[in-house]
Amino acid sequence: MGWDTWIGEKGAVAPSLYAADFTRLGEQIDALLAAGCRIFHFDVGDGHFIPPVTIGPVVLRSIAPMIHAAGGVIDCHLMVTDPAHHFPEFASSGADSVTFHVEATDDPRGVGAAARAVGLAVGVAFNPVTVVVDAVAFAEEAGAELALCMSIVPGYSGQPFLPESCVRIAELAALVEVPIQVDGGVGEENIAAVRAAGARVFVAGNAVFADPDPVAAYRRIAAAGV
Ligand code: DX5
Ligand code: ZN
Repeated sequence: MGWDTWIGEKGAVAPSLYAADFTRLGEQIDALLAAGCRIFHFDVGDGHFIPPVTIGPVVLRSIAPMIHAAGGVIDCHLMVTDPAHHFPEFASSGADSVTFHVEATDDPRGVGAAARAVGLAVGVAFNPVTVVVDAVAFAEEAGAELALCMSIVPGYSGQPFLPESCVRIAELAALVEVPIQVDGGVGEENIAAVRAAGARVFVAGNAVFADPDPVAAYRRIAAAGV
């Protein structure tokens, strides 16, 4: 199992649980699973690599069984300074994949191997200021199965999509074989352009959960892009 089998030919919308209503988290996940969603994006911030502390293994452990029982996967986006330190706990808490940042380590080979050693699929993320070819070299060294192009400065949900991201995605798509994920400010209005640029996994936080009906929003975004 890994990114290739999770995505399918058409690509996938991955709701970012960071933007969910935490008083109704299980209910919202259940409803999205019923709507056909199978990839959930789980944003981990340590208050150091990014300013906020977000969610971590305690929340992951509580939601992993229901997602796995329905055949879904949890994609953990680690916006943390020392990603490898966290891999064993994320693996034992139910993570299927970890995506760590180019800007967080200078040891792509070691960090990628550490994730695989505990059974996690490996993705590599890079920030809007990072040079795309540098990120590609890093991702190849890490043995990444997924490349995540940030389309916002990581930290908070609800920021606008940075318009230069489509050019960066296209540049990335010309250089890598692995699927491309885009994260930040993606919604119904821009998903088709992001897809045309070459992305296949579309993270959507605000666009799903700020809607009074997250399932309807998820369906509209998916209909517009996958
Ligand atoms: C930001 C996170 C994103 C974010 C996306 O630091 O990595 O995954 O939750 O949220 P939206 O879709 O609202 O930009
Ligand atoms: Zn994210």
